[in-house]
Amino acid sequence: MQSKVHVRTAINGEPAEFLCEPRQSLLECLRDLCNLTGTKEGCNDGNCGACTVEMDGRIVTSCLVLGVEAEGAQIGTVEGLARGTELHPLQKAFLENAALQCGICTPGFLVAAKALLEQEPEPSEARIRLWLANNLCRCTGYDKIIRAVQQAAREMKEARP
Ligand code: FES
Ligand code: FES
Repeated sequence: MQSKVHVRTAINGEPAEFLCEPRQSLLECLRDLCNLTGTKEGCNDGNCGACTVEMDGRIVTSCLVLGVEAEGAQIGTVEGLARGTELHPLQKAFLENAALQCGICTPGFLVAAKALLEQEPEPSEARIRLWLANNLCRCTGYDKIIRAVQQAAREMKEARP
């Protein structure tokens, strides 16, 4: 067995640390070592986007990132969206638009869409579709997801001072 590596990082704004094998993915570390099971495994080869998280301000597929690469990084997962019992506008909009069925893809869509709205608060429909093109959904047909992101963008705009 390979010796383990002590990784110190920050997850959703809180200091975090874990002991992982050098071969373990960030996805495995989040789910199996940090008990953050909101991030989902779909393909485990970089194609579906279910495992999307933020890492130092960029969205990454965590199945393709090694856990040891999280050393010193800022990681954002779907668990960081809600504020206590207050859902993020994207989470509310996904529920209101029935933009999920089985839910496996949903955390990845939420994390990716949040990053988009932080960078581009008023994206066009074409821009939303392009941004989310790396996130696959087998259930919804995508339109409800796009409507949800548009609704969240509108509500976030109205909430800005
Ligand atoms: S599980 Fe990582 S891209 Fe599919
Ligand atoms: S809701 Fe099932 S894959 Fe998207």
